[in-house]
Amino acid sequence: MNSSQELLDHLSRNSAPYEDPLLRVEWETLSLDDFWIPEQAISLYGTPEYEQLPEALKRRLSQYEFIYFISGALWLEGLFMERIARISMHSADRLDRLNYRLHELREEAGHSLMFIEFMRRSGLELPIRRFPKPRMATLVGRFAPFESAVFWIAVMIGEEVPDRMNRLIRRHREDISPAVHDVVTTHMIDEARHMAHARDTLEQHMETLPNWQKMLYRPLMRRVFRQFVHAFYYPTPDIYHLAGLPEGPDYRRIARNNPQRAAFIDDCVDPALQILRQQGLVLHWR
Ligand SMILES: [Fe+2]
Ligand SMILES: [Fe+2]
Repeated sequence: MNSSQELLDHLSRNSAPYEDPLLRVEWETLSLDDFWIPEQAISLYGTPEYEQLPEALKRRLSQYEFIYFISGALWLEGLFMERIARISMHSADRLDRLNYRLHELREEAGHSLMFIEFMRRSGLELPIRRFPKPRMATLVGRFAPFESAVFWIAVMIGEEVPDRMNRLIRRHREDISPAVHDVVTTHMIDEARHMAHARDTLEQHMETLPNWQKMLYRPLMRRVFRQFVHAFYYPTPDIYHLAGLPEGPDYRRIARNNPQRAAFIDDCVDPALQILRQQGLVLHWR
């Protein structure tokens, strides 16, 4: 058995027994009186417009930005589930693979159910258009061949970048709602396995990829990465509107020009960029 097969078996074993994420969250602790993400993770944090807001609006904005973040996660997990479901049909020859994929599918479905439950219990008016799907990332995610480096680069980015945000949220446990802490913790524990698998698969694909092909991929992957990061980290204008911020300022632009936000994003994307750099692919999000 080679190391990749061993990893698959190991990850599958750790996925069992399955515990429903809906049961891993203490829902009663979810309160609109708490911040849902720490202030440092809010897109406007550090700007004069943010500092002027009363405490209650800062809190409401943190709640809406978390809703936005899990809306993005719903889109992403929908993509993963679609691909895993499709490939499962063709995985019957390798039961270890099929086994791992079904675990991942079940876990992603569990996360998505947890996010929907969170939205339902939030009691907040939800945006009509929850998340603007980044076009290139959606195309690559849906249609790049399952057995291609491009696909696994996209998967790795899609798992690493939001995971880092989960970690940053979690580091401020005392400042946020316990229910949010449960949600991000539950998600992180499962995602650690998905990321180990994505990294391993990506390495295998990159090893056999000639340099000229990496060069060819770079412009495409740069666009995918930029669009993805912008969609995830710069909420849409209706988030600020629904949070009840004073009308007038273009908050999205203020967030885009916010150096503290840029530094926060750097922090979030760094692990993914390092993995790609080791594989000879240099990307930027700005
Ligand atoms: Fe997930
Ligand atoms: Fe995942």
